[in-house]
Amino acid sequence: MKITIIGAGNMGLAMANGLKSAGFEVVLAGRFSGRLEALRGEFNIEIIDKNYDINDKNIILAIKPNALEWFKNIANGKANSIISVLARTSLEQIQAINAINHAICLPNIAAKDRASINPYMASGDIEMIEQILNGFGKAVKFDSKATFDAASIISGCAPAYLALVADAINSAAVRSGLNLSDAQAMTSGLFNSFATLIENRHPALIRDSICSPAGTTIEGVCKLEEAGVRTAFIEAIKASLIKQRG
Ligand SMILES: NC(=O)c1ccc[n+]([C@@H]2O[C@H](COP(=O)([O-])OP(=O)(O)OC[C@H]3O[C@@H](n4cnc5c(N)ncnc54)[C@H](OP(=O)(O)O)[C@@H]3O)[C@@H](O)[C@H]2O)c1
Repeated sequence: MKITIIGAGNMGLAMANGLKSAGFEVVLAGRFSGRLEALRGEFNIEIIDKNYDINDKNIILAIKPNALEWFKNIANGKANSIISVLARTSLEQIQAINAINHAICLPNIAAKDRASINPYMASGDIEMIEQILNGFGKAVKFDSKATFDAASIISGCAPAYLALVADAINSAAVRSGLNLSDAQAMTSGLFNSFATLIENRHPALIRDSICSPAGTTIEGVCKLEEAGVRTAFIEAIKASLIKQRG
């Protein structure tokens, strides 16, 4: 399937790489820029000038939210699918663009490795939308704006929260005597191990299966609880959600 991604920034390029490695034919499109030109050769490139023919295309919008009006003004025809990954953008705003299928999705830049978690809302051919979203990660459907917004904080913002956790573990490992390179290798290995553990297990069960009575792990877990780590994450997600809802 051919996918046209409008916007070749961090998110657009991550999805382009993921979709390409999944076997999709990818076109990167946008206004003229050195960044887009530099990708010629790696991808098919389309420079958008005034009018842009969207007829029968499967389009992913990866421009800045404030550029949505620009795209609406230059889009001509009727697309097959329009999928927006723009933050703070509703399905109704996207449905104003002429297309058979519409979706909003909030992925993350792990799309590059086809590992993004992709919450979405859609109208039209859901199977077609899922086929595209599964090309750069895992699609998860939501039916209300409230639940979609909550899920989008986990996919879009929480990777930055976990980056803080990883950075703290790196520093702690260095404090314990590891050199930075070994600390980073251990932390990245830890996150890989944890991804496998969390796949089919409740987090409380993981904790309980590691903490032995009067053991070393429960000492650390108690320190984290004393520091309010659980409340800190709950408050962080709440703060991001309030900001997202404007
Ligand atoms: N980064 C993430 O982790 C993430 C996660 C989920 C969703 N998103 C969403 O993805 C979208 C892109 O984010 P990003 O991080 O990839 O940003 P970015 O790296 O700054 O890229 C923005 C893209 O939008 C284009 N653009 C900006 N203003 C424009 C305008 N007025 N007219 C036409 N094109 C314009 C830029 O073109 P030029 O190169 O010509 O400036 C560039 O291709 C945003 O809507 C964001 O909410 C991002």
